[in-house]
Amino acid sequence: MRYKDTSDLEISLLLEAVYRKYGYDFRQYSQAHIRRRIMNRMAISGFEDVSQIQSKVLNDEPFASELLQDLSITVTEMFRDPAFYRSLREKVIPILKTYPFIKIWHAGCATGEEAYSMAILLQEEGLYDRTTIYATDFNQLALNRAKEGIFSNKMIKEYTTNYQLSGGKESFSSYYTSNYDNVIMNQSLKKNIVWANHNLVTDSVFAEVHLILCRNVLIYFDKNLQNKVQSLFYNSLINGGVLCLGSKESLRFTDFYEEYIELDTKQRIFKKKY
Ligand SMILES: C[S@@+](CC[C@H](N)C(=O)[O-])C[C@H]1O[C@@H](n2cnc3c(N)ncnc32)[C@H](O)[C@@H]1O
Repeated sequence: MRYKDTSDLEISLLLEAVYRKYGYDFRQYSQAHIRRRIMNRMAISGFEDVSQIQSKVLNDEPFASELLQDLSITVTEMFRDPAFYRSLREKVIPILKTYPFIKIWHAGCATGEEAYSMAILLQEEGLYDRTTIYATDFNQLALNRAKEGIFSNKMIKEYTTNYQLSGGKESFSSYYTSNYDNVIMNQSLKKNIVWANHNLVTDSVFAEVHLILCRNVLIYFDKNLQNKVQSLFYNSLINGGVLCLGSKESLRFTDFYEEYIELDTKQRIFKKKY
């Protein structure tokens, strides 16, 4: 491939260097996303061009982990998109109730809010005791925070509203204890969550999963990489298993669109055909 713009070429070389030295593969992430994040890092750290970042990344591991943090966006919420969780209750829970045990995979769980939301929903639907939730991300710092289950008090008002709009059946405050500026999620929510480092670009399938949530992750990937990850999901799901994507994500332009039926088009919930 020939590059007209020198900074595009430098970015491509930087991503190649990150991959070869550290094994993190951003080469097929959306160009616009990567460019925005790298330009941001240049401005913060006072670099004049991308090649200076490359040299620093290769020789300075703490800087490399800072850059990895820059490239992974971990913004998340409890009960993000409440209408999605309402649909999950109405359309997916009845399917899950037919299984004697349930495996759920949250791919790209960030700091864990999505997995805790799922644990709450499953408790309320009487399914949590027969479920294992695998919550994975390639960002170890985010995973460490997820495991702790400690969130800022400042977010609780918004999370409580989300929970109520999502069809929550209890008082949201019964799921955590307050501790100064933070809340600590109940131990009973954590007991069936397995937190694991997993890279969607380079690691392999999870076998025999009933439900996969990969929301607001694939928007950062280019078309080829989205297709590759969809193959991973297809091979991880049981027949009749359910796949949930984010509100701006789609199966439509992947090789797998015909392999699913749409359970809820607007909320991006798909069921794998038998
Ligand atoms: C914006 S957050 C989405 C969090 C949550 N799913 C939600 O919708 O609120 C995207 C997450 O995807 C993770 N991610 C990005 N690339 C990844 C990869 N190759 N493998 C695993 N996780 C990845 C990031 O580290 C980040 O935590």
